[in-house]
Amino acid sequence: MDTPLSPEAIAARLPSSRRIGREIQVLAETTSTNDVAAQLARAGAPEGLVIFAETQSAGRGRMQRKWESAPGEGLWFSVLLRPTWPLADWARLTTWAGVAVARGLEAALPGCHAGIKWPNDIHLGGRKAVGILAESAPGPEGWAIVGIGVNVNQTAFPEEIRGLATSLRLAAGSQAAPLDRNAVAAALLGQLDALYNILERNFTSIVVEAGARSVLLGRSVMVHDPAGPYEAQAEGLEADGGLRVRLPDGSVKVICTGEVSVRSL
Ligand code: BTN
Repeated sequence: MDTPLSPEAIAARLPSSRRIGREIQVLAETTSTNDVAAQLARAGAPEGLVIFAETQSAGRGRMQRKWESAPGEGLWFSVLLRPTWPLADWARLTTWAGVAVARGLEAALPGCHAGIKWPNDIHLGGRKAVGILAESAPGPEGWAIVGIGVNVNQTAFPEEIRGLATSLRLAAGSQAAPLDRNAVAAALLGQLDALYNILERNFTSIVVEAGARSVLLGRSVMVHDPAGPYEAQAEGLEADGGLRVRLPDGSVKVICTGEVSVRSL
């Protein structure tokens, strides 16, 4: 393991006026940082709390998938939010997190380009480097947890995800030294905080950037609908961040949640 994560080392790189990361906790090990954050949310913890863990024994991803959380190799963390906006707008958090994390990766690794695979996987060089899992309990005292898993210093991955996954270090090149995870964490929280202010005023600009970063738009995709998979062309993002696709019969569908993969031709 490189330098351990430390709340002080992360906070020292962030503005004191921040909302996201106003309180930062680092756990040596937990089941899932999303579970810890949800527990603290129920107990009244404030917006902006961020929980990191050096490793997770039950890290989870979208679609009930297991999330590999190698000790000391990545950033496994959850952000607690308490949006006061109408419930219909809470889905915006998915687009916000994707764009902010993409910006954060580019700040942490100058010269890299971070793409977004809708809804919010972040890709470097065609492989997934970050997964994001948003979970919420809306209502007057409601909360949302945005859980973010970032592969930082891995140089190899388990068989099942080899060929699909990458890390910041791998993206930096074969000779690259391990990155300082405290610095990467601060770059991510800094962008999440900056963009959270914009999210409330100008969500359109975030959707435009998500579209520009999309690795799906203009491509032939497979939509993995619960009713059965179907082929389509990914055309664009809607104002709410939904993915607009065109079916072979010319009809248009908007997908709000789910799984879409690029079709190998
Ligand atoms: C995905 O790509 O399916 C989403 C992966 C989200 C992983 C992160 S790691 C921190 C937080 N805790 C979890 O159990 N999951 C998220």
